[in-house]
Amino acid sequence: MVRQIYFDNAATTQVIPEVLEEILPYFSERYGNPSSLHELGAEAAAGMRIARERVAKTLNCYPSEITFTSGGTESDNIALMGVVGKRGRDRIVTSAIEHSAIIETCSHARSIGYKATIVPVDREGFIDMSALDSAMGDDVAVLSVMAANNVIGTLQDLRELSKIAHEHGALFHTDAVQAYTKVDIDIKRDGIDMLSLSGHKVHAPKGTGALFVRDGTEISPIMFGGGQERGLRSSTENVPAIVGLGKAAEYLMSNFAEDVARMTRLRDRIIDTVLEIDGSALNGPRMKRLCNNTHFRFEGVRGQDLVLKLSRMGIAASTASACSASDNEPSHVLSAIGLNATQALSSLRVTLSGLNTDEDVDRLAEILPVAIKECRQQ
Ligand SMILES: Cc1ncc(COP(=O)(O)O)c(C=O)c1O
Repeated sequence: MVRQIYFDNAATTQVIPEVLEEILPYFSERYGNPSSLHELGAEAAAGMRIARERVAKTLNCYPSEITFTSGGTESDNIALMGVVGKRGRDRIVTSAIEHSAIIETCSHARSIGYKATIVPVDREGFIDMSALDSAMGDDVAVLSVMAANNVIGTLQDLRELSKIAHEHGALFHTDAVQAYTKVDIDIKRDGIDMLSLSGHKVHAPKGTGALFVRDGTEISPIMFGGGQERGLRSSTENVPAIVGLGKAAEYLMSNFAEDVARMTRLRDRIIDTVLEIDGSALNGPRMKRLCNNTHFRFEGVRGQDLVLKLSRMGIAASTASACSASDNEPSHVLSAIGLNATQALSSLRVTLSGLNTDEDVDRLAEILPVAIKECRQQ
């Protein structure tokens, strides 16, 4: 395989050495079950306690408000299904560009008798505030809007959205899987009642995540068993991955300002360079955009062909989201911002992490025009 320059960090990220080092002893030495009373159990429980404190600190919440889960999808499922129907409120309100972890949970909720309202977005992916206003009512259990979109990087105004939810007596949930460690989030300042995050998007292992639930929130589990995680998420905890998530959270937040500034600069370099290519356009906003996200469309190019060609030339990128990468269907996010099927299927997502360099961007600037030209000649 040609050595790949990795520009698919919205799909997943590399586990960084600092995280790996912290995790390894939990496989081979501190392998106890954190619920066990003996010393090995206590060591595992201590690792989890530190991880919980570290994650809580990054969000400005209490450790007791953090539930570890298997990832962003499970956190989203618990957040919605755990509160819908409570307090006589049987409706979920969400946006048209949410990840399928939210959209499909809404479909499931409908299939068992609850209601879900999907609010449209504008051409840059910002939620339509007047449609949201009409959608809200006193039957809404939860308003769920993602902090940052995984395809086009749109950043929503969390403070404004939580205010609207609370005016109607609803909870406010945000899927912060893409935003976490890249956007300044403070659950108190921003009025967030529940927040989902995922380990593998922040240089921790796959298969781990967390859900913040504000103390005092009435919420039920969706999985039943041994009562771990204060009864909200039964099943023996994935201790090494949780330890890794805690370390990643602490590590990334300690370099937050610098990393965000660097990624923003590289992002803008990519946008400026790519827009020089004939027949190219940026999807999503120029401002209020996630610092590591770029997303383009190219006239006369099939996104899938371009991604495969780039891969052969040493660049790993994607079309829309990783989950839809093998589909021939246009991404629901791109349809929601008004792109037609041809436009939506001609797109490329290039997403950064703190590990990307100016040299990576130089290489992209060299290779991409060639790859596009070849795709157009096919
Ligand atoms: C915005 C968003 N939400 C949820 C998820 C699902 O997270 P996980 O893969 O940890 O289940 C993703 C992953 O792509 C995502 O981008």
